[in-house]
Amino acid sequence: MHGRDNVLAVPTAMVAQPALLDIERRVQELCLRYAEQLPFHGWHHVRFVRDKAVDFAEQNGANVSVVTAAALLHDVNYLVRKNSPAAAGTDLRLGVLAEVGVPAETADWIDRIIGEAEMRNRHRDISLEAQALSDADTLYKALPITPVLLAHRYLEENGVSLPELAQKILSEQQGVQEAGYYFYNAEAAARYTQWARANLRLWQCIAESLDDPSVLELVAALEPVAEGAAAG
Ligand SMILES: [Fe+2]
Repeated sequence: MHGRDNVLAVPTAMVAQPALLDIERRVQELCLRYAEQLPFHGWHHVRFVRDKAVDFAEQNGANVSVVTAAALLHDVNYLVRKNSPAAAGTDLRLGVLAEVGVPAETADWIDRIIGEAEMRNRHRDISLEAQALSDADTLYKALPITPVLLAHRYLEENGVSLPELAQKILSEQQGVQEAGYYFYNAEAAARYTQWARANLRLWQCIAESLDDPSVLELVAALEPVAEGAAAG
C-alpha cells in the first residue's frame, strides 16, 4: 500500500452528498440517453466502478466523496468521442461539476484523479484517490465474465478490431502486472490477481491465434462492425 506522501499539497475538499446525487442523476441520464453509443461504458459500467471505488476508498483512507465523483465521471469521454482518452472528457466533466456547484479547485482535482488512474498512464505512486478508482476500473477489466459478456461490446462501441483490442490489453496491462501494481489494494490483489492472470493469458492466446490466417479469416467474417470502421 502506498501512503499519502505529499499530504500537505493534496486538496482536502469534500463533495457534498446532494451534489453527488446530482452528479449521479446527470451521468445516469446521459448514459441512458446515449446507451446505444455505450454498450461497454454505459451506466452498468459506471455503477460497478462507483460501487467498487467507494469500497476501495473506504479501505485505503482516500477521500470517499471525491472518489465517488471521480468514478461517476471517469468515462464521460466516451460520450464525447469513441475510443478516446479520459482527457477528451475534461470539458464535459468540469461542466457537470460546475452545474452541481462543486468548486473549480475540487473539480480540477477530480479531473486529475481520473487522468492519474487511467490504465495507459498509471504508475506505482499515484494518489490514494486514483488508486481506489484504478482498482475498481481494473477489476471490471479482469472479471472472468468480461471477455465473455463484454469484450464484443467494447469492439462495437469503439470501432476497433479484435487484433487491435488484444494488442491494447496486452500492451497496457502486462507491464503493470509484471511490475506488481495491477491492483494497489493488497486485499484486491490477493483476491483478484488470479483472475487478472487468467484474463491476460486468454488475451495472449487470442493474439497468438490471430497469427493463423484461417483464424483471421474467421474473425473477419464475424466482425462486420470493426471491418466497417476500418474501411471507413
Ligand atoms: Fe471505466
